[in-house]
Amino acid sequence: MASFLKRISIAIGFPWLRLVAETANEAADEVIIRDVAIIGGGSSGTYAAVRLHDSGKSVVVIEKEDVLGGHTQTYRDPTTNKTTDLGVVVFDNQQLVKDYLGRLDIPWKVAPPSLLGSDADAVYVDVHTGEVINHTAPDPGPGLAAYAAQLAKYPHLETGFFLPDPVPEDLVLPFGDFVAKYPNISSAVPTIFNFGQGLGDTLYQPTLYVLKLVSPDVVRDISIGWLTTANEANHEIYDKALALLGQDVLLRSRVISTDRSANDSVKVVVDTPSGNKTIQAKKLLVAIPQKLDNLIGFDLDANEKALFGQFVHTGYYTSLVRHTGLPDNLTVISISPDNPSQLPQLPGVYSISPTVIAGLFDIKYGSPTSLPDDFVKGEIIAFLRQLRQSGVATMDTRQEPEFVQFQAHVPFELTVSPGAIQSGFYKKLYALQGRRNTYYTGAAFQTHNSFMLWNYTEWHVLPLLLNDS
Ligand SMILES: *[C@@H]1O[C@H](CO)[C@@H](O)[C@H](O)[C@H]1NC(C)=O
Ligand SMILES: *[C@@H]1O[C@H](CO)[C@@H](O)[C@H](O)[C@H]1NC(C)=O
Ligand SMILES: *[C@@H]1O[C@H](CO)[C@@H](O)[C@H](O)[C@H]1NC(C)=O
Ligand SMILES: *[C@@H]1O[C@H](CO)[C@@H](O)[C@H](O)[C@H]1NC(C)=O
Ligand SMILES: *[C@@H]1O[C@H](CO)[C@@H](O)[C@H](O)[C@H]1NC(C)=O
Ligand SMILES: *[C@@H]1O[C@H](CO)[C@@H](O)[C@H](O)[C@H]1NC(C)=O
Ligand SMILES: *[C@@H]1O[C@H](CO)[C@@H](O)[C@H](O)[C@H]1NC(C)=O
Repeated sequence: MASFLKRISIAIGFPWLRLVAETANEAADEVIIRDVAIIGGGSSGTYAAVRLHDSGKSVVVIEKEDVLGGHTQTYRDPTTNKTTDLGVVVFDNQQLVKDYLGRLDIPWKVAPPSLLGSDADAVYVDVHTGEVINHTAPDPGPGLAAYAAQLAKYPHLETGFFLPDPVPEDLVLPFGDFVAKYPNISSAVPTIFNFGQGLGDTLYQPTLYVLKLVSPDVVRDISIGWLTTANEANHEIYDKALALLGQDVLLRSRVISTDRSANDSVKVVVDTPSGNKTIQAKKLLVAIPQKLDNLIGFDLDANEKALFGQFVHTGYYTSLVRHTGLPDNLTVISISPDNPSQLPQLPGVYSISPTVIAGLFDIKYGSPTSLPDDFVKGEIIAFLRQLRQSGVATMDTRQEPEFVQFQAHVPFELTVSPGAIQSGFYKKLYALQGRRNTYYTGAAFQTHNSFMLWNYTEWHVLPLLLNDS
């Protein structure tokens, strides 16, 4: 980014350099030759790019947004310069996380429990009416121990979709039925639901996806603490990675087409702010959600289409809102009193938490399917109005609630049906690695957890990309 800006100012200052810039523009059709072309500069794509760069491989990252980072978003308050993370707030407490942050010169710290909000002082409200409910959350301790005992039955799940063959019936039971079968998990269900935000209707999802997202690491870190960046500004990872990768990142760029018919290389045509570019790479890494409508222009074969076509997804929305009328230290948690474990009926607001920035609340919203952004925003505002009527939002404010940030994490949580899981979907999916010089990473191949994505990429994808044969 810095060098890009510098170039523009030089071009304006020195007419003879403008010529150089124009020549570069005319060369827009020139072929970019790289070892690896990476589609998507989110958590997995950026990690792969940094590691490949450090291993002496040439890379190019194609990213549609104007920054790297995907689900990781940090808001910096212009008045106080304080930051708050929404989206990715904490990381598993693992050496690989410390090593990666260290590589990028980013200090880390153990995340204080308050970073994730505390239930102790929370007000529980009905997700549909905003009415206060007299509710005491159960002590999740015994339930988490029972849940951890279930997790221990599937030690390979944590590192990927490495499923026993045949796939155990328990893994494809809707999670609600799984809990009914192992009722000693019950007291942990609200906790599992909250740490598994984005799963949509958690009790209806195949148990596999719950066990993947709310992993042994997560259960452990609930008690020992997570890691976060020392400044509580997780987007630093992506700012530093962008500075490191420099011109090897094409921002605001989209794939127009791919051609993977050659034996030893792939061709990718990319629409970039400086025109269409052709990339010729030995290998292609697809690090965006592998949904068919994200892969328009890709030369998918029947097998790839059949697999990716099975994914369905949820919607997860994060936002920062001011003028809520809520007292500054109040946490609001949604429930539905008539539901099992009183989990809130979605779509709806999961929770509202104060941030370090006075007057700014972090509001999370979940849906079993994706919804239009404006609809979600309208629902959040309507919920805040209900909280005024029900007397939860007591502060006098003449101003209407206002979004300071809003991010749709869509498509979120790619899943397939229980039948597909049982008939070997994930074996077939993983068998795609390396076919047609194409490799894959991202949450559909692992789960929505930065550490687990980095660790999967490190051990199961990088060795394939580094292998020159
Ligand atoms: C804001 O904080 C960052 C560190 O998080 C610091 O680098 C920057 O200089 C600060 N900006 C101002 C205007 O104080
Ligand atoms: C809330 O419920 C608890 C336990 O059921 C009860 O002791 C308490 O009085 C109730 N509080 C209100 C305000 O209704
Ligand atoms: C929970 O119940 C299962 C049987 O349903 C049992 O095997 C397990 O030991 C129990 N776990 C705990 C932590 O109580
Ligand atoms: C990281 O992945 C490797 C390979 O799958 C695995 O052996 C290791 O246990 C993983 N590390 C953690 C902490 O999950
Ligand atoms: C591709 O590789 C196969 C096996 O190595 C070889 O027989 C074939 O001629 C190659 N095709 C092209 C177009 O290079
Ligand atoms: C880029 O390629 C697309 C598809 O071939 C084409 O429609 C578009 O006009 C091209 N853009 C430029 C700036 O050449
Ligand atoms: C929240 O702030 C109000 C007013 O400053 C105070 O009376 C109340 O005790 C605080 N509540 C909590 C849970 O800290």
